[in-house]
Amino acid sequence: MADLSTTFTGIRFENPFMLASAPPTESDANIMRAFEAGWGGVVTKTIGLHPVVNVKGPKTKFLRADNGDSRLSMTKRPNTTLMASWNWELISDKPLDWWIGKLSNIKKQYPNKVLIASIMAGSGNDKELNNWQKLAKACQDEGVDGLELNFSCPHMDRVDMGSNVGKDKVLCSVVTMAVKEVAKIPVWVKLTPATSNIAEEAEATFRGGADAISTSNTWPSLPLIDPDTLEFEMNVEGFVSPGGLGGPAILPLAMAKVAQMTTKFPDKEFSGIGGVSTFAHALNYILLGCGTVQVCTAAMLDHAIGPNVIRNLIGGMTDFFEKHADKGWKSLADIRGIRRDRIVAHSQIKRPEQLDYHGGYDEEHEGYAALTTT
Ligand SMILES: Cc1cc2nc3c(=O)[nH]c(=O)nc-3n(C[C@H](O)[C@H](O)[C@H](O)COP(=O)(O)O)c2cc1C
Repeated sequence: MADLSTTFTGIRFENPFMLASAPPTESDANIMRAFEAGWGGVVTKTIGLHPVVNVKGPKTKFLRADNGDSRLSMTKRPNTTLMASWNWELISDKPLDWWIGKLSNIKKQYPNKVLIASIMAGSGNDKELNNWQKLAKACQDEGVDGLELNFSCPHMDRVDMGSNVGKDKVLCSVVTMAVKEVAKIPVWVKLTPATSNIAEEAEATFRGGADAISTSNTWPSLPLIDPDTLEFEMNVEGFVSPGGLGGPAILPLAMAKVAQMTTKFPDKEFSGIGGVSTFAHALNYILLGCGTVQVCTAAMLDHAIGPNVIRNLIGGMTDFFEKHADKGWKSLADIRGIRRDRIVAHSQIKRPEQLDYHGGYDEEHEGYAALTTT
């Protein structure tokens, strides 16, 4: 019988699947529904100290492709396939005081489920570093199991917040150190994918004392322009600002980010996020070395907290171990990271024998024409 439980940063999970910090975890009601549905843990919507007012109109839309056609649009319509979510939602618009009492109540009612509080403050001065500590202590006193520091929100104007922290190695270390000074519980850090080599920011973050790194948040991006109206498909009075792309489109991108880190730090702990809606998707992160996997977009589109998604993840993982029983794999620990070493430098990938080489032209490969000479 497969054992779906796992221990990650010292915290015991009944299964490794979590709701990521986002609308599915924006309230105590949602979080408790998610636990009932079977999620092993959740990361709360990011909690901050400054007042938050979101833009007028929708905060998230979903980009879909027509089946059998190449039209891409956010317009809701039948016979389409989901490509991505796009959002410009800010962190929780409920103040810290709103969360106090609710976090402890969730933990009291679901002691065996994992509750991680996502927090965010600025980092430009000592007052802001104290704000990180204030948030950390307040959530810790509520009995949460761990903290996730948000260094990854892609739409912040402030240069000392969100992904701007995750792009600055010094700030990654300094803020993590400030939180570790007061934290008695594990500290995870959610890094932005919007850097050239995330392993460098990961190194700085681990140097600051982080217990784990989560990635990816959404990718900086724009909504498409409607070819008829010439307006961005998502705008307020005609204006748009860069927001974040999530969902299926980012799975391969986020895998590459995770691999940059797990190949460099095989003994460290990582939580994989981005584009997961089935166990087959989640498996990618596990085989690359992640110990937990987080989900947002797929859960938003499945009754807001993903009851069918978690059923698929748990069922898929159970089936996987049954299918591979002959290999002796019984738990996540047996398969974690077993494909990490298959990622090598391009020059180490085998070339064909001289006789088999047709100068790169080979009609049998999709997208390439046969070599024709004139
Ligand atoms: C509407 C929306 C709001 C989000 N809010 C937060 C947030 O407050 N804090 C955070 O760390 N990530 C936030 N995220 C990012 C998600 O947690 C996740 O990293 C991202 O969506 C990629 O996962 P997915 O492909 O499963 O959606 C948000 C994502 C969406 C779509």
